[in-house]
Amino acid sequence: MDNRSIGVFDSGLGGLTMVKALAALIKNENIIYLGDTGRVPYGSRSKETITKYAAQNAAFLAGFDIKAMVVACNTVCSVAFEPLREAYEMPIYEVVTAPCEAAVKITKNKKIGVIGTAATISSGTYEAKLRQLDPGIDVCSIPCPLFVPLAEEGFTAQDDEIAICTAKRYLTILKDYGIDTLILGCTHYPLLTDVISYVVGGEVTLVDSGAQTAKTVAKDLEKKGLLSGGARGKISYFVTDATDGFESRASRFLKADIHGMARQVSLE
Ligand code: DGL
Repeated sequence: MDNRSIGVFDSGLGGLTMVKALAALIKNENIIYLGDTGRVPYGSRSKETITKYAAQNAAFLAGFDIKAMVVACNTVCSVAFEPLREAYEMPIYEVVTAPCEAAVKITKNKKIGVIGTAATISSGTYEAKLRQLDPGIDVCSIPCPLFVPLAEEGFTAQDDEIAICTAKRYLTILKDYGIDTLILGCTHYPLLTDVISYVVGGEVTLVDSGAQTAKTVAKDLEKKGLLSGGARGKISYFVTDATDGFESRASRFLKADIHGMARQVSLE
């Protein structure tokens, strides 16, 4: 048993989809969330920059004597995860492996789609992991950069014309490719599930990378005897830009009012 907190970081507020999944599975855990809102988005940046930002985020969380760290950002996990794994002895979790394992189990026709930021898709990390799990898998990967601002603005309803138009522009190729499984390889995309599903068709199974990873984290912490024995856990929020915009958007993401709960910090 270990009552210390779990640290979670993302480039912004999208990682809250992971926090929500984690808090639903392991309710007694204290979670410290860092959203690098001052430097988001990471998805259009270079590997060097993403690696530097990721190291600073991890160092900030490690300063809290946490028992484990979850890197909720798919972009960081795709291009800059290894230096983090090497730098810390505590369990540190990425969001690539669990959804790939789930997708390989789900697919019947072995045609899997992956969508994510430009950096995630050009890294080829999801493709490599899928092919490592099953060399017979056919992968079609598409960057969908406009999905992040759509999700942040709340343009996520199934009948939102702008969201549908954007999704059709990006995803029609996946439909034509005949995929039966689609990995949502970005923190924000689960918020667009209804739109994405409407465009690719209900017969395509969507795999949420954050939710899949949350299951892995919960199981692994239990196996390692690291779950908390305390009462219901609390979530602390840190951001690198003004808190008011974050709190409003995060309240919408989490469907819970977190106004007045975030603190602004500097990482440089
Ligand atoms: N958090 C990023 C990801 O999951 C999306 C936002 C960004 O580009 O920073 O890839």
